[in-house]
Amino acid sequence: MIKPVDTDAQDAADVEDIALEVFIQALRLRHGYDFSGYSRASLKRRVVELSRKFGVERLGDLIPSTLYEPELMREIVSHLSVPVSSLFRDPEVFLRLRDDVMPMLASWPRINIWLAGCAYGEEVYSLAILLAEAGLTQRSQIYATDFNDHALERAAEGIFNRQNLPEYRNNYRESGGQGRLSDYYHTRYELLRMRRELLERVVFAHHNLVTDGVFAEAHLIMCRNVLIYFTQPLKDRVLELFADSLVRGGFLVLGNKETLSASSRVADRFELVSAADRIYRLKRDAA
Ligand SMILES: C[S@@+](CC[C@H](N)C(=O)[O-])C[C@H]1O[C@@H](n2cnc3c(N)ncnc32)[C@H](O)[C@@H]1O
Repeated sequence: MIKPVDTDAQDAADVEDIALEVFIQALRLRHGYDFSGYSRASLKRRVVELSRKFGVERLGDLIPSTLYEPELMREIVSHLSVPVSSLFRDPEVFLRLRDDVMPMLASWPRINIWLAGCAYGEEVYSLAILLAEAGLTQRSQIYATDFNDHALERAAEGIFNRQNLPEYRNNYRESGGQGRLSDYYHTRYELLRMRRELLERVVFAHHNLVTDGVFAEAHLIMCRNVLIYFTQPLKDRVLELFADSLVRGGFLVLGNKETLSASSRVADRFELVSAADRIYRLKRDAA
């Protein structure tokens, strides 16, 4: 039997898809934030949440605010950016960095690290601890970037919820940490604040992976759980940006659901270091 099509519901869904595209264009043309290369399903979910937060029923009703209320941009970008992370997130990756990558980084007199999509800074502090424990702090410079200015400000404050401590401690131990994580933070009421010394070699900066260029002569680039939000052409473009930003022999670390697929334009410029941990290395003879 042929099922009757609910044309009204179908029309409404189509209209919301059109509204999403217009919203994306408004953000780009009015504010320079280009979300056109983001996967639509997850972006739409976040824009729907945003419309609820702003108390409007339809996606299209967000467009006037986007055009005429620039003071809301910070909140809009912040909401679309998903700054979710953890200290020593995926600890096995940090274990691999500690055991295999740090000793190789140690062969360079200066170590530039680009942490792209640093969210609230959990990875920044984790990496700063790793460098300190490897005795490499004084030779290192971490450039921690994100396009979410609110997240960058919070990252620089280094304040996290104390409730997450069991997870953080566990991750630190599983990442091969031999010391006491408590040496790296102070607690106050329900919060923990990372020690300021950890930021000695850290610069926070606004950088948009979609629109901005090569960032630094990096020896290590970590960009985890960011490319999953991008469509394949944008992923390829950003991977090319990373290849162009790395020194020969430099390392690239992606998130555990992200790969440098063989079809990527830059795949042959990299060699695999660890498939499980998504660690790649720019070939020494890479063009
Ligand atoms: C899910 S968090 C990942 C945080 C951390 N890298 C991790 O793996 O735990 C994604 C981060 O990527 C950032 N991001 C998304 N699109 C970006 C872009 N075009 N340029 C720079 N950062 C971006 C978001 O603001 C957010 O902080």
